[in-house]
Amino acid sequence: MCGIIGYIGEKNANEITLKGLKKLEYRGYDSFGFANLTSKINIYKDIGKVSQIKNIDLPKSNISIAHTRWATHGGVKKENSHPHQSNNKEIALTHNGIIENYQEIKKELIKNDYFFKSETDSEIIPVYIEYLIKKEKIVFFEALKKTLKKIKGNYAITIIYKNEKKIFFAKKGSPLIIGIGKNENFISSDMNAFLECTNKIICLDDNEYGFIEENSFSIYDLNTNKKKNKKINLIKNDTLKNKEIIKENKKIKNIKTNNNNNNNNNNNEKNNEKNNEKNNEKKIKEIIEKIKNKIDFKQNYNNHYMLKEIFEQANTIDYAINQNIKKITKIINKIKKTNDIFLIGCGTSYNCCLYASYLFREILNKQTTPIIASEFENYLPLITNKSLIIAVSQSGETIDVLEAIKKSKEKKATIFSIVNTNFSTLTRISDENIMMNSGVEICVLSTKSYTSQIAIFLLLIYSLKYNYNNAIKKIKKISNKIPLILENNFEKLKEIADLIKEKNDLFLIGRNSLYPIALEGALKIKEVSYIHAEGFAGGELKHGTIALIENKTPVIILSSKKNRELTLSNAIEIKSRGGYIIGFDYINNEIFDNFIEIPNIDEDNSILMIIPLQILSYFLAINRGCDPDKPRNLAKSVTVI
Ligand code: G6P
Repeated sequence: MCGIIGYIGEKNANEITLKGLKKLEYRGYDSFGFANLTSKINIYKDIGKVSQIKNIDLPKSNISIAHTRWATHGGVKKENSHPHQSNNKEIALTHNGIIENYQEIKKELIKNDYFFKSETDSEIIPVYIEYLIKKEKIVFFEALKKTLKKIKGNYAITIIYKNEKKIFFAKKGSPLIIGIGKNENFISSDMNAFLECTNKIICLDDNEYGFIEENSFSIYDLNTNKKKNKKINLIKNDTLKNKEIIKENKKIKNIKTNNNNNNNNNNNEKNNEKNNEKNNEKKIKEIIEKIKNKIDFKQNYNNHYMLKEIFEQANTIDYAINQNIKKITKIINKIKKTNDIFLIGCGTSYNCCLYASYLFREILNKQTTPIIASEFENYLPLITNKSLIIAVSQSGETIDVLEAIKKSKEKKATIFSIVNTNFSTLTRISDENIMMNSGVEICVLSTKSYTSQIAIFLLLIYSLKYNYNNAIKKIKKISNKIPLILENNFEKLKEIADLIKEKNDLFLIGRNSLYPIALEGALKIKEVSYIHAEGFAGGELKHGTIALIENKTPVIILSSKKNRELTLSNAIEIKSRGGYIIGFDYINNEIFDNFIEIPNIDEDNSILMIIPLQILSYFLAINRGCDPDKPRNLAKSVTVI
């Protein structure tokens, strides 16, 4: 969704904010803009893509704020894009979030002869500040504070003011992070915008406001008006973090094995693990090379993050289960003792929660309730101080998830989170975090983060059922099969996409834990190719969906040992109405018109089912001329309700 980057320092602010906005493109947006400060405020904004811009048509400056807008209040128009200005053009603002009482404030300002150029809620902020400065004869900072007390809703804002060499900011509900550099400071809604320049960050909390200057920063509490001392955090890169966890876990394992006098076995095991990892990485590289040679990879596929991130999964699953043993033990002990477990997420992360709830019941005999975060209010009466909430979110910033967690905290529930983004809001409000370690996911669609979430749930569930070491072995057995899936099915999936690309509807059927996989597969297909795709539980076929099956309607059948008979009987019913059946299983069947072979393993093979579905979605997008990385109307992180 909307993104903010601000820079103040000795370098060219235009260049830095332009680069920063390009880093924020992955979040999804439809227009953009810049404001910088010279002897006056200069504005440049437009609709369309930042990536197409080499230079911005603004005078040189050392202070700039910039914004990518994802339209909410008011259409995609240049006038609605940020930064917005006060009537006297002395104040410019960028805003993420929604001001709920903007209509009332706008009326008050219009009554006092102020005017508005946009249809946005955001524009009232600079105009109201100007109004207060004039009416109450107060300084800018005082007027800002009073404005913040007046507005209701969620916001991350940055402001520049003609008469001060500062970038002012305020945060409530939407993320905002300061980056501390040498003779320069940054502020952004997403630290990826400035991480190249500094890894020292300060995470702002709700109701904090203040300003950054070239060599300092000041943060205040809006409720007490007192200045705050905030911790500066250092961001370590994922490789370093992974190494640290491995080292820590080795120490723990060594202590245990020394006690057991079992050194030899343990060393063999360690060597095997190392070799497997190396083989896997080598294999993936080989397969990618092979695939590149087989299809016209360079021309059509080379530049998409979606494909890159799909390929990465053979490794990212292993990174996801590389967790501190002590922490995992603590978490599984809590799960063991709790009978009141709720899993919360949105979109793909919710599909993962639904999937995990099947496994909790099936493998652990434990009732857990999966909840779509935006529906959480309905479950609130059930939440107590004995409840355990596991929140799942790639970004850690999805507003509905954060709202659900805040409400659960009021009820004193325990909060664990499965998150990919370090220092995101969710990580800061949870009692315990399990990081996915997937690296930044640039494509708007979740691919590698989804399988990492599943891997983490498998780690918890298998550790409880068996033990930690066996859990790791079982999951690695699954991730080791990923190169095979890629190698065996890549071209076939491209052919299937060619066959069905003109279709308007597509259905996916799964039973048991393959039902959530059918939902996730359908979500991937519709998000990226805009084909209407629907996943449903096999048993529901006769309760509606069968009415939509026509000659050659494509239906993907997900089946495995546990549910094969019943799922195949669904396939037969569809086939007799003319449907075109694409089977996903490890055994082919004559009823299938096309077949994707999934390796046969004893463990739950859902991760292996989703990967070919992701590739199919990718090819459907390419064949239909859609941009797989930036699907229309979608945002990577949904930060407004
Ligand atoms: C957006 C993204 C989805 C994602 C969902 C939840 O809709 O486009 O890919 O699944 O948000 O995001 P989260 O960051 O909470 O996992």
